[in-house]
Amino acid sequence: MTSKHTPVIKVLFVCLGNICRSPMAEAIFNHLINQASLQDSFYVDSAGTSGWHEGKPYHRDTQGVCERHNIPITGTSRPVCSTDYKEFDFILAMDESNWSDLQSCCPSPKYEQKIKHMLEFQVKDHILGLNVPDPYYGGYDGFERVFTLLSDSCHEFLEFVKKERGLEFRS
Ligand code: 4NP
Repeated sequence: MTSKHTPVIKVLFVCLGNICRSPMAEAIFNHLINQASLQDSFYVDSAGTSGWHEGKPYHRDTQGVCERHNIPITGTSRPVCSTDYKEFDFILAMDESNWSDLQSCCPSPKYEQKIKHMLEFQVKDHILGLNVPDPYYGGYDGFERVFTLLSDSCHEFLEFVKKERGLEFRS
């Protein structure tokens, strides 16, 4: 249970368009925290460094791959805004370009350390470096591969936060 002694941890997943990678990460992470009964300890959202698809539904293959894995996904695209930097505890960029854009737009140096790479928390596939491949220009296979990558990294990220914030000791 969340109380005044256990502040909610706020996590924002960010990609370029907020229709493929970051909403998929948001859906997967929500699923993981629900499974761990930690949903009251988190607030989770996603956004894009661009506003190109603002207000539009997520990509059909993002929705398709989540549905195929029985992971609920809802919401519409929105761009990152300046208040996100203050609001969120973790801002997780899907690739190095997103990370650089987030750093460039950061309104204060005190928030810069919140901006991290999603794949800092992925230990299995070292070939990719820090970039979650963008499936937007490819086919459905790309979305499946990204789903696997994001499942691994979301799992590792949750383990990291649980240790850092002492969540494994909460009842
Ligand atoms: P995302 O993928 O950043 O993972 O949502 C993209 C979505 C849209 C575009 C590029 C990448 N676009 O060029 O519109």
